[in-house]
Amino acid sequence: MQAQNQNLIAAFEQEREARILSHRADKEWRELSNAWMRHAAQKHYMYNFSFLGRPIIQLPQDMVAFQEIIWDVKPDIIIETGIAHGGSLIMSAGMLALLDYCDAVEGGETLDPKAPGRKVVGVDIDIRAHNRAAIEAHPMAHRIEMIQGSSTDADTVAKVKELAQGYDRVLVALDSNHTYAHVLEELRAYAPLASKGSYCIVFDTIVEDLPDGLYPDRPWSRGDNPKTAVHAYLNELADTPQTGADGAPLRFEIDSAIDGKLLLTVTPDGFLKRV
Ligand SMILES: C[S@@+](CC[C@H](N)C(=O)[O-])C[C@H]1O[C@@H](n2cnc3c(N)ncnc32)[C@H](O)[C@@H]1O
Repeated sequence: MQAQNQNLIAAFEQEREARILSHRADKEWRELSNAWMRHAAQKHYMYNFSFLGRPIIQLPQDMVAFQEIIWDVKPDIIIETGIAHGGSLIMSAGMLALLDYCDAVEGGETLDPKAPGRKVVGVDIDIRAHNRAAIEAHPMAHRIEMIQGSSTDADTVAKVKELAQGYDRVLVALDSNHTYAHVLEELRAYAPLASKGSYCIVFDTIVEDLPDGLYPDRPWSRGDNPKTAVHAYLNELADTPQTGADGAPLRFEIDSAIDGKLLLTVTPDGFLKRV
C-alpha cells in the first residue's frame, strides 16, 4: 500500500514537471504573460493585495513561490530589504510561525506562541510612522526586527549581520531601491548571508523585460535595474571566487524552474539559489 502511494506521488510529480517544461517552452504564452505584466505594472496591480491584514506590494504568483521556497528551505531567519507597509515582513513572519508550529506538532510539543522562534529582519530607509505602528501592533510583531537606514549603509549592514549571527538557515529577499548600483551593493552585502541550499531573492528584475517609460518617477529603467545587477553579481562571483558568511565557497545559480513555472512574475532570473 505504501509503495503504491509512493508511486502515485512520484507519477504526479513527474507529470507536473513535464507540464511545467511544456509551459516554459510555450512562446505564445510567454509573450501573453509579458503583455499582461506590462499592463499590470502600468496599472499598479501589485498594490492590490494584503497579507494577514498588511498591504503587500507583490504579485500573488510570487507570493506563492515565496511560500514554496520557505517550506523547502525552512529558514530560521529571513532578511528583507524594503518594508513599505510591512506586508512582506508579515508574510515572512507568518510563514516562519507556521514552520515553528509544524516543528512542534512533529515533536509532540505544545507551541508557545510567544517563544522567540524563527524571526525576520527588515530594513527600510524610511519606515513611515503609521506603518511602523501597524506592524508593531500585529500579532506577528514579536518575530520582527526593523532597522531604519539605507540597506547599503555600512551601519545597517553591520546591524543585520549581528542580528543574523547564530542562525544556520538564512533566506534573503531584496526589494528596496531597484537601481543597478543599489542592488549590486545589496547583493555584495547580503547574498553572502544566504545559507547553502537557500536563496537570495531579487525582486523586480522584470524591469529589464518591460518597455522604458513605465516608471517615469523612478530612477530605474531598462539596463539599470535588479536584473542587470544580478547578472553583474554572478559574473563577479565567477571571476573572483568568494566565500559566504559561513566560510564556504559562495556560488549561486538562477533557479529558472521557479519563474519558468510562474509565467507571471516580477522576478525573472531573480530566484538565486546558493549551491
Ligand atoms: C517595493 S517597496 C517594498 C515592498 C515590500 N517588500 C512588500 O512586499 O510589501 C520598496 C521599499 O524600499 C524602500 N527603500 C528605498 N530605497 C531604500 C534604501 N536605499 N534602503 C532601504 N530601503 C529602501 C522604500 O522606502 C520602500 O518602502
